Amino acid sequence: MTDPAALVEGQVPPPGCPAHAGGAVRLSGLEYQQTPSQLYRALRKEHGAVAPIMLDGDIPAWLVLGYSEVSYVTGHDELFARDSRRWNQWPNIPADWPLMPFVGYQPSLLFTEGAEHQRRAGVITEALEAVDQFELAHTCREIAEGLIDEFAGSGEAELMAAFAHALPMRAVVQLCGMPLGGVDTEDLVRDLRISLDAPEDDDPVAAYLRVQARIEQLVKEKRSTPGTDVTSRMLAHPAGLTDEEVVQDLITLIAAAQQPTANWICNSLRLLLTDDRFALNVSGGRLSVGQALNEVLWLDTPTQNFVGRWAVRDTQLAGRHIKTGDCLVLGFAAANTDPQIWPEGHVGAENSAHLSFSNGEHRCLYPGPLLADVIARTAVETLLERLPDVVLAVEPHELTWRPSIWMRGLTALPVRFTPAVQ
Ligand code: HEM
Repeated sequence: MTDPAALVEGQVPPPGCPAHAGGAVRLSGLEYQQTPSQLYRALRKEHGAVAPIMLDGDIPAWLVLGYSEVSYVTGHDELFARDSRRWNQWPNIPADWPLMPFVGYQPSLLFTEGAEHQRRAGVITEALEAVDQFELAHTCREIAEGLIDEFAGSGEAELMAAFAHALPMRAVVQLCGMPLGGVDTEDLVRDLRISLDAPEDDDPVAAYLRVQARIEQLVKEKRSTPGTDVTSRMLAHPAGLTDEEVVQDLITLIAAAQQPTANWICNSLRLLLTDDRFALNVSGGRLSVGQALNEVLWLDTPTQNFVGRWAVRDTQLAGRHIKTGDCLVLGFAAANTDPQIWPEGHVGAENSAHLSFSNGEHRCLYPGPLLADVIARTAVETLLERLPDVVLAVEPHELTWRPSIWMRGLTALPVRFTPAVQ
């Protein structure tokens, strides 16, 4: 196996490279993607709490690995801000750079700062706060039942595609005011999957444009005929967002909710199906489902690394000299397993002091984590109730993680169970 801390040798760092003081580690294309915890351990040993890294195309950045350092960076937006146009590396970034969808500036709440961020975030928060969590659980159960009906008779399923990804997408689209089961909703769900997942046989850009067109149409419809949904509440909010702003923020909201929640569901199902501690009472154990969901947030968090923050001015962090415009990648997975907070090698904490939903002004917007919990918990519980003898269809070591250093999710979760009589 490639040494997870392999240094990029024989390369001249670009001017202003934060890595020039020490060997920077490439965060792309390495085998450690199956076991990133090895990489984080090696990086910590070599560099401490803040490591110089190379993003795709050997673009320099910092990976913040320490729990208190990630908390500090996310808690000080006056020093580490969110508008990616601050980046000092833009002259070195090609237009087709693979990370462009994550860092390319868009006029959505994600990249806004200060008072403008508070205005945009306030609208979404209030629109989401009005969601009835019991109703959401009911909707998610209906969606889960419908998805399970599709494969229950066959005795086998690939849960990643057929369940974990499909469920949160439908739940969130429905929250935004599109009816479940409508042709439009199904088209939108399919295009969202293509634009977020970029499967090889489809065009993600064309799919994204169709998503945008459909959300624009939804906003128009809700402007003329409001309902009791998130979109209508955003439009009616006294902050007076324009239709374009609502479209941008709805797309952000749907994308921000979909992949992390899908991976949270799948990673929790994997834990429940592979770890003996959960095996005995998996079918009836509501408590165990809650514990598995929480343990995943500590140990296999869906958003393992996130780009990021950009330094507002020259500053110091964990002894590193950070220059104005440097990019900092938030290492949530590394921070959650920081030996500084777990000196005795603790695994699977009972509490929820992890950083999986980030921290500070741009943290996963309240009440996002609560709604994600309702969606994920209902999904997992419904599946285990409907398929009480569900087991993995492969050996646990045959499960593979998607080759991404950003999201932590499986490529597939094949299972078998007694077929339902239909
Ligand atoms: C219903 C489900 C969810 C909703 C509605 C939601 C919503 C959002 C929104 C609107 C943002 C942008 C916040 C901003 O920039 O001001 C965000 C950011 C984020 N969310 Fe969520 N989210 C959901 C589920 C999740 C899950 C399951 C996770 C991971 C366990 C997660 C982790 C994050 C992270 C790490 C960020 C970036 C925060 C930062 O920049 O510091 N979210 N979420």
